[in-house]
Amino acid sequence: MASPLATIAEIGKYDGRSVTIRGWLYNLRESGKLLFPIFRDGSGLIQGVVPKNAVPAELFDAIKGLTQESSVIVEGKVRADKRAPGGYELDVSNLQVVQRVPESDPYPITPKEHGVDFLMEHRHLWLRSARQAAILRVRAEIIKAARDFFDERGFTLTDPPIITPAACEGTTTLFPVDYFEEQAYLTQSGQLYIEASAMALGKVYSFGPTFRAEKSKTRRHLTEFWMVEPEVAYAQLDDIMELAEGLISFLVQRCLERRRTDLQTIGRDVGRLEKIGPPFPRITYDEAVQKLQEAFAKGELESKFEWGGDLGSPDETYLSAQYEKPLMIHRYPASIKAFYMEPDPERPDLALCVDVLAPEGYGEIIGGSQRTASHALLLKRIREHNLPEAAFQWYLDLRKYGSVPHSGFGMGIERAVAWICGLEHVRETIPFPRMLYRLYP
Ligand code: 4AD
Ligand code: MG
Repeated sequence: MASPLATIAEIGKYDGRSVTIRGWLYNLRESGKLLFPIFRDGSGLIQGVVPKNAVPAELFDAIKGLTQESSVIVEGKVRADKRAPGGYELDVSNLQVVQRVPESDPYPITPKEHGVDFLMEHRHLWLRSARQAAILRVRAEIIKAARDFFDERGFTLTDPPIITPAACEGTTTLFPVDYFEEQAYLTQSGQLYIEASAMALGKVYSFGPTFRAEKSKTRRHLTEFWMVEPEVAYAQLDDIMELAEGLISFLVQRCLERRRTDLQTIGRDVGRLEKIGPPFPRITYDEAVQKLQEAFAKGELESKFEWGGDLGSPDETYLSAQYEKPLMIHRYPASIKAFYMEPDPERPDLALCVDVLAPEGYGEIIGGSQRTASHALLLKRIREHNLPEAAFQWYLDLRKYGSVPHSGFGMGIERAVAWICGLEHVRETIPFPRMLYRLYP
């Protein structure tokens, strides 16, 4: 094929010219003497037009009856058309079939509706659908934007280990690893390690896979997910609340700027996203409890929330649905939060922590806190939580040698993607989701 190679995403640059596209047949519509093959190349979709009386008979016959997902190299002239979804159509002049999908064993995912179990079992193929590809492009944009956000603000990326000797977020969700006959675990969070690198580099972040053997079968839980975690020496709770607000606003703006077409393919109401910007509403846990109890009294919630409990999914859904912007809830009871959190000096039964709940009922996307700076208090907490003291000696060292107030948070990428894309379930936010009791491909 003699014409220059082009991607569908950038096809507008070639208006009026002939191009070559390497991709797959997404779908084929026939209407009498006209064929409308839709091609995809990974960057987007474009409809081809093949009139029987204007192309060689071999070309018409090669496309007629071509099977879905056959790989093809196509040549044609790009023509602007306002009615076309991407704004352009292709007048096909040549087509080479790279591999023809046989009729006897057709591509299993057809344009008709399929059940979610079927789609999950065919996740390796489902990724090719326009919607799934758009979600993965938004995910990639969010990851890039998160890195840009921290890189541009003087943070250094420091990668924590994935195999760890001890728990960070409770001992009930650990995945064990046999480490040469020693007991180890897959990391639940890089936090403890990046506290050490924050003491070395000031402002740091980590970005990697994290693991939790969560016995929760909800639309928000994965057992393997990606977390971006900033950690800042000398920062207090208010500082990282501002940082979280800045990060979320930046991510949403970036997706609106660069991924609007993908958001539209996904069917996202971008008007909701356009409202996201600082300041975010902030309430205390006490105030949240009051709102939940009022909602129960009005019959809007099924069970009565008691002070001291952790917010469940229905509680978070209720609270986050009350606001157009992400809601920051701070100062939870220390008893329901992690061992490393700094107590509120004004009310030591509370932790200096924050959860950020995404709007529209999405619930928690960020959890963070100020960290205990005192060696004595941290040691006491480690003992109270029955954590193996020896495994935490290095972590305690950070409080012996130049301890300072410091704070950080973690944002689950899949939860952020689910909200920004407006998805029902986190399973669509990662190429190969890992969920309770079930390993798909
Ligand atoms: O609130 P979490 O447990 O906080 C931490 O792990 C802290 N050590 C982070 C820090 O301060 N550096 O988890 C942080 C975020 C949650 O808000 C949520 O977005 C995500 O990680 N997350 C999950 N996402 C998907 N599936 C799960 N099972 C998740 N558990 C947590
Ligand atoms: Mg949390």
